[in-house]
Amino acid sequence: MMEQGVPPVSVGRLAGSAVLIGGVPVALFLVLGIGGWLAPGLTVVAALITFLAAWVVAWLWLSNLARLAMVLRHASEGSSEALAQPGMPLLPAMRDVAEATGRLARSLEERSALVGRLRRADAAILENLPDPLFVLAEDRSPLRANRAARLLFGVPATDMRPLAGDIAALLRHPALASAVDRALAEGEVQAVDIVLPVPVARELAAQVIPLDPPLVDGGRLVVQLMDRTRERAVERMRVDFVANASHELRTPLASLMGFIETLLGPAEDDPEARRRFLGIMAEQSERMRRLIDDLLGLSRIELTEHQPPTGRVRLADLARSEAEAMTPILARRDVHLELALDDSAVASPADGEQLAQVVRNLLENAIRHGRQGGEVKLAVLRGTGERGGAVLEITDDGPGIPREHIPRLTERFYRVDKGRSRVAGGTGLGLAIVKHIINRHRGQLSIESEEGHGATFRVWLPGGRVEG
Ligand SMILES: Nc1ncnc2c1ncn2[C@@H]1O[C@H](COP(=O)(O)OP(=O)(O)O)[C@@H](O)[C@H]1O
Ligand SMILES: [Mg+2]
Repeated sequence: MMEQGVPPVSVGRLAGSAVLIGGVPVALFLVLGIGGWLAPGLTVVAALITFLAAWVVAWLWLSNLARLAMVLRHASEGSSEALAQPGMPLLPAMRDVAEATGRLARSLEERSALVGRLRRADAAILENLPDPLFVLAEDRSPLRANRAARLLFGVPATDMRPLAGDIAALLRHPALASAVDRALAEGEVQAVDIVLPVPVARELAAQVIPLDPPLVDGGRLVVQLMDRTRERAVERMRVDFVANASHELRTPLASLMGFIETLLGPAEDDPEARRRFLGIMAEQSERMRRLIDDLLGLSRIELTEHQPPTGRVRLADLARSEAEAMTPILARRDVHLELALDDSAVASPADGEQLAQVVRNLLENAIRHGRQGGEVKLAVLRGTGERGGAVLEITDDGPGIPREHIPRLTERFYRVDKGRSRVAGGTGLGLAIVKHIINRHRGQLSIESEEGHGATFRVWLPGGRVEG
């Protein structure tokens, strides 16, 4: 509280006021004295006493009023202060005024505290809204940006700068700039989709909301951004996926239809050709069956991907039985399979059926895409270091994978060499399925390969060890 003394009342003002108050009775005494109706001594004494009394009343009035003016001034600045002050008596009427000003000042103070709280609440709501949002002044300069907006522009969430540079770049976007113009001109909310190439390509849906009346800080427009990058990518992926899947199915289907036509027409009476064609048709239908199986498998795994598995799996047992099931294709490709299995390696929590599919897909790839007559090694080990767990390692000595293809191998239908993959009987979905299963297990897949020197697919899975 700024308790301050009242500045002393100036003598000139005091004298002026005393004359105003006491002038008439003093003059009256003097007239009475001069006219002889009052004794001269009495006249002087009466006039002096009256003037003194007027002086005191004037001093009381002026200092009370000065004090009142000061208290009101302070109240208007938001602080309350009592009118009474030690060493300064108050006129009786002033006491009532004092009480009223006290109440007024207190209610003003409460109201300004309330306004402060409301402003802070407003700011906190804007700050914590999940969508990136910023506030622009009438001249379109950015006033504020919330936490989500700062994150979007790559500024640490705690940094309160208004991001002038980045937002200026965003506002230069022609579509957004014209939406801002329209919002200001029409006073209506405007929606617009924009693509930002920097710092990372982003697709944003923006809403420009004009504020009338403006915010207390002069905010005239709120620009709300919704990051649609992920959604749009998922949309595109879905479209690509359907296109790819139909294409993959159409190829064998077209070939089946072609052979059926040939069998019904020109090859009708050629048993040799018929046998050959039926063989190819069986192969093509088998390819369609595998593709449909993999597509269904993939969507089943995607459905459960967010639920963690529950069991415990001894990887060595699982690897042994999957290796055994590979005997026919090992023989066909003349590949030797070497096993190095640590029986104490356990994946947990884990789904045995799904991990068997991981081993199957990776082994099949090593055998099919590896070297004819080559060597494949399947190892199961315990994870090392702090994170422990279990590791599956499948290594071949085939042609390997060119470096630039490695990051994309787990995409659906991605193949290094489409023609060769099909001949090898692949659907292009094997590694996509592997990746989804490993994701569900919160594991990790790493692929190491050097062109011409084989490839190693390493899977780490969280887990423990078998006691005893
Ligand atoms: N061990 C490997 N050696 C060389 N290339 C491989 C190996 N494993 C996978 N690839 C490459 O990765 C691609 C994707 O594998 P995958 O998703 O299993 O599809 P598919 O085996 O049906 O072709 C394969 O087409 C192949 O080009
Ligand atoms: Mg495969």
